[in-house]
Amino acid sequence: MSGRLVSTDPATGAVVWEGAKSDPAAIADALSAARGASIGWADTPLAARVAIVRAYAERLATARLALAETISRETGKPRWEADQEVGSMIGKVAASVAAQTERAGSRETVSSFGRAVLRHRPHGVMAVLGPYNFPGHLPNGHIVPAVLAGDVVVFKPSEETPATGDAMAALWRQAGLPDGVLQIVQGGRDVGAALVAGDIDGLLFTGSGTAGAHLRRALVDRPHVIVALELGGNNPIIAWDGDPQAAASIVAQSAFATTGQRCTCARRLIVPDGAVGDAIVDAVAAYGDRIRIGRWDELPEPAMGPLISVAAADRAREAVAGLIAAGGGVIRAFESIPDRSGAFVTPAILDVTGLRVPDEEIFAPVLQVTRVADFDAAVAAANATRYGLAGGLVSDDRDLWDRYARRARAGVLNWNRPTTGAAGTMPFGGVGASGNHRPSAFYAADYCAYPVASFEADRVVDQSADWRGVG
Ligand code: NAD
Ligand code: SIN
Repeated sequence: MSGRLVSTDPATGAVVWEGAKSDPAAIADALSAARGASIGWADTPLAARVAIVRAYAERLATARLALAETISRETGKPRWEADQEVGSMIGKVAASVAAQTERAGSRETVSSFGRAVLRHRPHGVMAVLGPYNFPGHLPNGHIVPAVLAGDVVVFKPSEETPATGDAMAALWRQAGLPDGVLQIVQGGRDVGAALVAGDIDGLLFTGSGTAGAHLRRALVDRPHVIVALELGGNNPIIAWDGDPQAAASIVAQSAFATTGQRCTCARRLIVPDGAVGDAIVDAVAAYGDRIRIGRWDELPEPAMGPLISVAAADRAREAVAGLIAAGGGVIRAFESIPDRSGAFVTPAILDVTGLRVPDEEIFAPVLQVTRVADFDAAVAAANATRYGLAGGLVSDDRDLWDRYARRARAGVLNWNRPTTGAAGTMPFGGVGASGNHRPSAFYAADYCAYPVASFEADRVVDQSADWRGVG
């Protein structure tokens, strides 16, 4: 487990961060420091916790450019997109303060039995494991609500993005977060596994379905550990009617935003068989051809950067080869880009109508097209996945939206908007293999604290009147 960890710019191979992996002693130290800090932090009045979290938002705003650049260098995402990510991190603070009050606050009502008081208490020590695709925004979406709730956190960033994790931890320190409340450990799966095996009260995980299912199994004998799993999807978008060019802009953004590295990206395009479907598919392909691909700091600005690594591109290439071997028709090939690092790829579109293809998330700009006879078949095709994160409908017909919204199985469901559209002021999570029914974003407050219900009276009074039959 010990050794060095290096993160590199996927566009150039330049080293962005290098440091020691956390060894077992360092993980144990972090957990014990967290445990030591947990009571003091839980006892810190909410107003003081809110003040520190707001100070962190100010630090984020001051460091916005530098943090965005770190995110761009580590992930390859264009500067404008990394800047949006930091914007989401800042916005998370106000949304989480509101959510804390609305979903995890305290309240009193008076009943004949006494004062009924509801309070929420923090769980204690939370392990946060982050993914690489939003290395700031997604761990931030666990850490901010946890810290607000009075939990303490040991955070392991993705092994692909340690610099972003370090930068976040530094901003928390500058904001005045007491020692021990947020610890950071660095490394890969082995470090994550050691952290989860340690003395934790919760695991807040964003990552792949495979890793999430594995971690759930790893914790099966520790039911007291709260587990929130935000996992991937094999998301459908049904494009049924409307202006094909406009539809294409929605579909292409759904499929290719962040180089296809969003959990909410559409992986499957479902269209009507015939001329309308053909026009939509042709328009999506033509739109994809216009997407500018480039390094994060290039001008004019690119829409898509590279994938996170050459290894990720190789994995996606293998998955695409599997689809072609199964009979998939190539509408646009998945290609490397001459004179660019092997992490750069072009958006791919494959026709898989009528084929049996794996129900797997390909975390890359790869869109699989299925043509169907009618809208019922479209909804059935959309739901034909073990996942259930995001889904979308592109159509001018309100009745179709009502039908789809009633029958779709997904936690994020958009109409005439890209599937990738999500807001911090709403819950964010999926059903099926996409999670364990603990949505994040506005609902993260729910898994960061547990409710305590009390009846209270200020004085000791004789209760006999309420209990019949005492002689
Ligand atoms: P990943 O599952 O490979 O890794 C996520 C984190 O978990 C990393 O920190 C990694 O080191 C750790 N990890 C992985 N396997 C582990 C194990 N067996 N034991 C302990 N720790 C382990 O995910 P990734 O490749 O970094 O991110 C992409 C995935 O995340 C995609 O599947 C995507 O759909 C998903 N994702 C989900 C959401 C959501 O909110 N639902 C958001 C973004 C990304
Ligand atoms: C994702 O799509 O990977 C995350 C989306 C979000 O939280 O905004």
